[in-house]
Amino acid sequence: MTISYEGQVVVVTGAGGGLGRTYAIDIARRGGMVVVNDLGGATDGSEGNEQKSYADAVVDEIRAAGGIAVANYDNVAGEAGGKAIIQSALDHYGRIDCVIANAGTMRYGPFEDLTLGDLNALLAVHVGGSWNVAQAAWPHMKAQGYGRLVFTTSSGGMLGNAALAAYGAAKGGVMGLTLNLALAGAPHGILCNAIMPNAMSRMTMEMDAAKMGNNPWSRSMWPYFDPGYTTGLVSYLASNACTTNHGIYSMLGGRLGRTFIGVCDGYAQDAPMDAETVAAHWDAINDTAAGFGVPANNADEFRIVAELRGLSA
Ligand code: NAI
Repeated sequence: MTISYEGQVVVVTGAGGGLGRTYAIDIARRGGMVVVNDLGGATDGSEGNEQKSYADAVVDEIRAAGGIAVANYDNVAGEAGGKAIIQSALDHYGRIDCVIANAGTMRYGPFEDLTLGDLNALLAVHVGGSWNVAQAAWPHMKAQGYGRLVFTTSSGGMLGNAALAAYGAAKGGVMGLTLNLALAGAPHGILCNAIMPNAMSRMTMEMDAAKMGNNPWSRSMWPYFDPGYTTGLVSYLASNACTTNHGIYSMLGGRLGRTFIGVCDGYAQDAPMDAETVAAHWDAINDTAAGFGVPANNADEFRIVAELRGLSA
């Protein structure tokens, strides 16, 4: 199977470097018309010194290879920015097929050192940034009965890291947005999936490994930290070849796998459980080996539990 983007218009936010740059280049190489959005700011999102050169350089690279791309420098964190980014796609190419929400910033450290300002800044760029571009694209995708949304979450949000309370909260929000828009979009042909990448980039190169807890496995992953390891996943998820929805995929160390939320079969009874009952059954409640379900949506967890408990619809 050859994945083609001929005739399709794709927005990639934060595409002036790192991971996003590789998505924009690969999609343009496959015939897509790309809006390369990037504010070109500091990796912590602090304002000032924004540089258009980040997006411009990627557009130049795409055009030099014979591809079609246009730069956009709007801030994904604002509603007006989201609208302007999608409007750029409409103005230049007349449609919008895919949004790859990749723009992001980082603030990290001990919980006591992080501020509500840090949290709000990260919520604005990660959750707000994904929301803003998706919402601006939504009516166009709905009208054409087709759309692909690819969001960027993180192991910090999905799995946790002691130094990433603010970033993880924001990336966890992106996960929730992904799973909900997947269900809202499905009846209209709009599919929404998310990725958990791991790559060398401007953002990660500036981070202090010691502050992140000096993961002993990190060195073994170095050979696989080229952003190019994640490119194929995004080019697949954003394409019309992808029919999967509501998925989250982790790329780490050259391994690509679906990440999922499962609920243990646990323990059930026909009376409210007091704390002593909970304690007495704690092992069963936590026993993944005894079985677990992977709900496809919130109604599906009702089905799973009803079936486990022999209850009818
Ligand atoms: P990066 O720093 O190279 O790329 C992020 C880009 O987003 C930058 O070029 C930046 O100028 C742009 N940007 C930031 N705020 C923006 C805004 N408000 N509006 C428009 N553009 C903005 O970093 P990287 O690693 O390529 O990050 C891409 C995405 O992947 C981010 O969402 C990041 O949180 C996520 N991620 C990266 C991981 C990694 O290991 N590199 C791990 C997990 C998630």
